[in-house]
Amino acid sequence: MSEHHDTPDVTSVTRRGFLKGFGTGTVATGLLSSTAVHEAMAAEKNGVLGPGEIPITLKVNGRNRQLNVEPRVTLLDALRNRLDTTGPKKVCDRGTCGACTVLLDGQPVYSCSMLAVEAEGRAITTVEGLGTPDKMNAVQQAFVKHDAQQCGFCTPGFVTAATAFVRKNPNATTDEICKGLGGNLCRCGTYAGMLLAVADATKAKGGV
Ligand code: FES
Ligand code: FES
Repeated sequence: MSEHHDTPDVTSVTRRGFLKGFGTGTVATGLLSSTAVHEAMAAEKNGVLGPGEIPITLKVNGRNRQLNVEPRVTLLDALRNRLDTTGPKKVCDRGTCGACTVLLDGQPVYSCSMLAVEAEGRAITTVEGLGTPDKMNAVQQAFVKHDAQQCGFCTPGFVTAATAFVRKNPNATTDEICKGLGGNLCRCGTYAGMLLAVADATKAKGGV
């Protein structure tokens, strides 16, 4: 991926611009150690991105989406705030609750705990990509059948994680389902319904 920077406006000073100025003779004694400057210069040479926005392409639910983000932006924030893909929810924002779960090349990940730039070139699937109200996948249908939600805030993450789980474990036992979905939390405590739903989905003919 090539490096790109927006043209800085007159009121902003980027870290890189500052370092370049420093390197060409600006007196800044005491602000940065020479070690820090050398580390920053080395990072630039090694292709470190940012800190300004850079253009990236994310493949979300089968569609290539182009956007500009700062390298520090999480995949979750890029999806929700830039791509209007709001199925993944922000709850803990620290890799604990699973509300932000998406599939990355089919594997469930916490999208709050990875950077958008890290997801370039990977297939990202959110709950929106698993089915539609008219054509739900087996997990979604089972959640509806068993009324496996209360407030519903955790549901997209659970459905996404459960879909990955059922695909990988079509003959899972109840204990295995409990363990397999241990990375997702429901504050409303709707676990009994969700357990029945996922158990049902494992029996679905035609898979998920
Ligand atoms: S919001 Fe990502 S794990 Fe909770
Ligand atoms: S249904 Fe409310 S948090 Fe799970």
